[in-house]
Formats: sequence, C-alpha cells, structure tokens
Amino acid sequence: MQYLIIGANGSIGSYLYKRMKEDGLDVIGTGHKRNRNDELIYFDILHDDIDSVLQGRLDKPVLAIICIAMAQIDQCLQEREAAYQINIVKTKELIQYFTRQNIKVIYFSSEYVFDGARGYYTEQDATNPINQYGCMKAEMEKYILEFETTVCIFRISKVVHTERVDQNVFWQWEQLQKKHEAAKCIKGNRMSFVCIEDIYQASRLVANMGLCGLFNISGDVSYSRKELAEKFFELSGAGEYRIEECEAAAFGFQEKRPMDVSLDNRKFREKTGYKFTPMDAAIQSYIQNNG
Ligand SMILES: NC(=O)c1ccc[n+]([C@@H]2O[C@H](COP(=O)([O-])OP(=O)(O)OC[C@H]3O[C@@H](n4cnc5c(N)ncnc54)[C@H](OP(=O)(O)O)[C@@H]3O)[C@@H](O)[C@H]2O)c1
Repeated sequence: MQYLIIGANGSIGSYLYKRMKEDGLDVIGTGHKRNRNDELIYFDILHDDIDSVLQGRLDKPVLAIICIAMAQIDQCLQEREAAYQINIVKTKELIQYFTRQNIKVIYFSSEYVFDGARGYYTEQDATNPINQYGCMKAEMEKYILEFETTVCIFRISKVVHTERVDQNVFWQWEQLQKKHEAAKCIKGNRMSFVCIEDIYQASRLVANMGLCGLFNISGDVSYSRKELAEKFFELSGAGEYRIEECEAAAFGFQEKRPMDVSLDNRKFREKTGYKFTPMDAAIQSYIQNNG
C-alpha cells in the first residue's frame, strides 16, 4: 500500500506523514505554503491539476488522505467564496479524480456538523450545522455518502497533539501558564477530544481493512475545556495555574459555536476493536515528549 497525504504540511497531515516515514511506510505528500519541507510536492488545490502534479509518482494500491481545508471557523465566514471553493468544489473534484483512479480516500469531517444542543452524537444522527464551516462539512458528508460510497469519512473531534505545535491546546495552555495568564475556556463547550496518534492508527486500519462510510473518530470520554485544562495542569505538575470559564459571547467570535459536540465512537470501536487513547495517556505522552 502506498500512502498519499494531500496537505502534508498542515497540523494533521504533517503528523500522519511523519509517522508513516517513522514506520517505514511508502508515503508521499503534497504541501502548499506553510511549513513545507523539500520532500513535499507543491500542490495548490485552487489552481493545480492533481493528475499533472502526481504524474508517474503513484504505485497502486494507494490510500489518499485529504488533509487540505480552510478549517478556521470565522475565516470560513469572512472568506466564504474561497472557503467554498477549497472545502467543497475542489475537494469534490479531488475525490472524483481519486475514485476514477481506484484510489481509496479518507476525508476528514468534523463534530461541527451538529448544532451542539444535545451531544454524544452517533453516525445516524441528523446533522444540523450552525456556522459556515459546519455547513460545508455537512454538505461534504452528504455528497460522499450519496455519491462516493468507497470513501471513508473520519468525523473527528478536536485533536490534541503530543508535541508542541501551534494548534495544540496542551501547548497553548502551557504557554499561558508560563506567562501567568489564565487559560480561557468556553463555558458549556464539551468535546470528545481525540489524540493525534489515534488518527494515524485509524488511517492504518482503513488501509488494512478497506473501510468505507462514516465513522466518528473521537475519544471515549467527553470533557469541557475547563475539565481537560484542569487535568492537564494537575498531571503536568505545573504549579499555580488559572482557568477562566467565559460565555462564548465574551470571545468575540463572528460565527456561532456549537456547545456540546461530544461524539459516540462505538461504531469504529466495534468494527475494528481499536482502543482510543485516554486523555490521561495523551497528556503523559505530551509531558514525556516535551519534558
Ligand atoms: N485539527 C482538528 O482539531 C480538526 C478537528 C475536526 C476536523 N478537522 C479537519 O481535519 C482536516 C485537517 O485539519 P488540520 O487541523 O490539519 O488543518 P490545518 O492545519 O489548517 O491544515 C490545512 C491544510 O490545508 C492546506 N491548504 C489550505 N489552502 C490550500 C490550498 N489553496 N492549496 C493547497 N493546500 C491548502 C494548508 O496548507 P497551507 O497552510 O500551506 O495553505 C494545510 O496544509 C480539515 O479538513 C479539518 O477541517 C480538524
């Protein structure tokens, strides 16, 4: 099996690419502007033709993992046209190209397809997004489930990393604590945070088992941001720390945020026997890696 990471310079894509290299797998990746290493093939989803970009580089069978997106919530409202082109129009074209080539695909959706009124959502629950980002993810899920039935959708929760990378809440909290600033958490916001290593292991299972359809890829337990921050500070022995829970309105977001977007991951666990990393273990790994 050859792995193709589309967007291997992003937060999730770069981890998958690095881990596949570490495990000696046959992996190639595309990169765009940010943090692009020389091994990556340049690909701009808006302007480049994927067939020309990949010319002669693929040995079948291939698993393509699409990690390209405009994934910032407010940016999807501010730059709606560009977001729609990247997240919907060009992503559909990419999937259509891969399926024509008999290349298996993993597409990443999000817990934001829900309105967050209830929580602990399953794959059967009706989506009801309340912001542009969520609408685009819900539109892609619907399209794939209807027309691209060989594709595997990972609907993922907020990802935590075991390394000091920008989007990692552990790293953000650590920096705030060092500056004696409070970790500000949205009140009522609950998520089934998932460890980045689980995304990697789940991708390997898709390759080995040929899974398709929709799967919630999330931790077993849901936490409010405050609960997880407390756990992080206690386990890391950080000394004094401050956590402030504030209403979402206090953050000045332009788009609404769904509150309880916890996910039920039983479908994936029962299908594969996979055990998701508990948050205590994810925090311990972060401490070990960066201690
Ligand atoms: N991280 C999470 O907690 C989380 C949770 C739920 C779902 N997801 C989903 O998982 C996927 C990956 O997320 P992520 O956190 O890794 O996002 P990310 O770090 O923002 O990465 C997005 C990637 O898209 C690329 N990209 C954007 N515009 C592009 C263009 N015109 N041409 C080519 N590449 C372009 C970026 O490259 P440049 O920066 O160089 O442009 C980057 O590699 C997304 O679909 C996201 O919605 C993530």
